[in-house]
Amino acid sequence: MARSSYYLLALLLLCIASLLWFSSSLKASVPSLTLAYGTCPCPHDTDSTPSSPVLEQSSPREGITLISPLPSPSPLPSPSPSPSPSPSKPTQAYYLPVKPYHELVRSHFPSKLWQKAGPHGIDENSQNNIKSWQKHNPNLRHEVFTDGSADQYVRDQYAKFPDILDTYQDLQVPILRADFLRQLILYADGGVWSDLDVTCHKPIESWIPPQFRNRANVVVGLEFDGSQFASWTVMAKPKTSHIAAAIEYIMDTLEDEAEKANTIISGLTMKTISDVVDVTGPQAMTRAILRSVSAELGEPVGWPNISNLHEPVLLHDVLVLPNAAFAAMQGGWPTDRGPYLVEHHYAGSWKNDHGGEDVPSSPIEQDHLQEKPGRPA
Ligand SMILES: *[C@@H]1O[C@H](CO)[C@@H](O)[C@H](O)[C@H]1NC(C)=O
Repeated sequence: MARSSYYLLALLLLCIASLLWFSSSLKASVPSLTLAYGTCPCPHDTDSTPSSPVLEQSSPREGITLISPLPSPSPLPSPSPSPSPSPSKPTQAYYLPVKPYHELVRSHFPSKLWQKAGPHGIDENSQNNIKSWQKHNPNLRHEVFTDGSADQYVRDQYAKFPDILDTYQDLQVPILRADFLRQLILYADGGVWSDLDVTCHKPIESWIPPQFRNRANVVVGLEFDGSQFASWTVMAKPKTSHIAAAIEYIMDTLEDEAEKANTIISGLTMKTISDVVDVTGPQAMTRAILRSVSAELGEPVGWPNISNLHEPVLLHDVLVLPNAAFAAMQGGWPTDRGPYLVEHHYAGSWKNDHGGEDVPSSPIEQDHLQEKPGRPA
């Protein structure tokens, strides 16, 4: 064979080899997950991801993690049937990026208190409550939203998540909005959310016992009946998977409620909603957080883990305080359930037909409000 033929053959082989190398390096350079706001994360990645269930896939470029749809582990803490979304639902468009655990534990809780005033502004009781926060936390930044500034905040923070923004803006019932708003704030900025009918009794920096410092990313307190976390006061670092899970849970249940009532989100009223507590309130938050902790730990975490607590317990990175912490008054001022941190006065102005703060509640509705999810057997 002529010498030039060898050259040609070698050249051809070289071409093929480099082509192969080029195509394989192209494939490798595709990020494992793209942060696609408003769309579902890269469908073409499904064939390159391992077949074992992956709960979190990190995107090293962004230093944040996306939570995939979580399997729903059992048991959940409440005895009532779970309003969990049907598994056949298409991938939702609002998955929120979250910070990985190890990054969060090294960061501090933002020293900021978030609150929201009703349509009548801040009354004297609320003013005294605000003073209690300032007295015990002289360095705390503090913001009280109005309806208008809260709307603006959500528009600014959730512009890239149109589903979430639309849902918030579509909600007509004030308590549903207020419930949703606190989760949106705790996710976006973190810090302490507190309703205005809450008095602070202990500096926030003393809330986490020394053995749990640098280990907790979310702090919640049990309500007096012990079956759910209070949502009147919650502390979180920004972008935690657990608060993201709460937002997604609320999005799902609102959609389900609307579907059940044969309406759309903006058509939901206090009458069409099964129970506010379950849909957007403390029970929803509790279920979502326990589910997310459970998914991350890969073991069931539920009612047994939070029942009858006398000491704070750390579930993964969620610190659960016994009921004296946030609900001492409702719990009859127990002396064996840890220190009293905040006091909730149950102004409960949302407990009326309109789920709002501007219509006085009738005694019947007040009674309905006293109803709490029953203690699981
Ligand atoms: C939750 O409770 C179960 C059963 O008591 C226990 O095995 C498990 O370790 C607990 N999980 C956590 C995170 O404490």
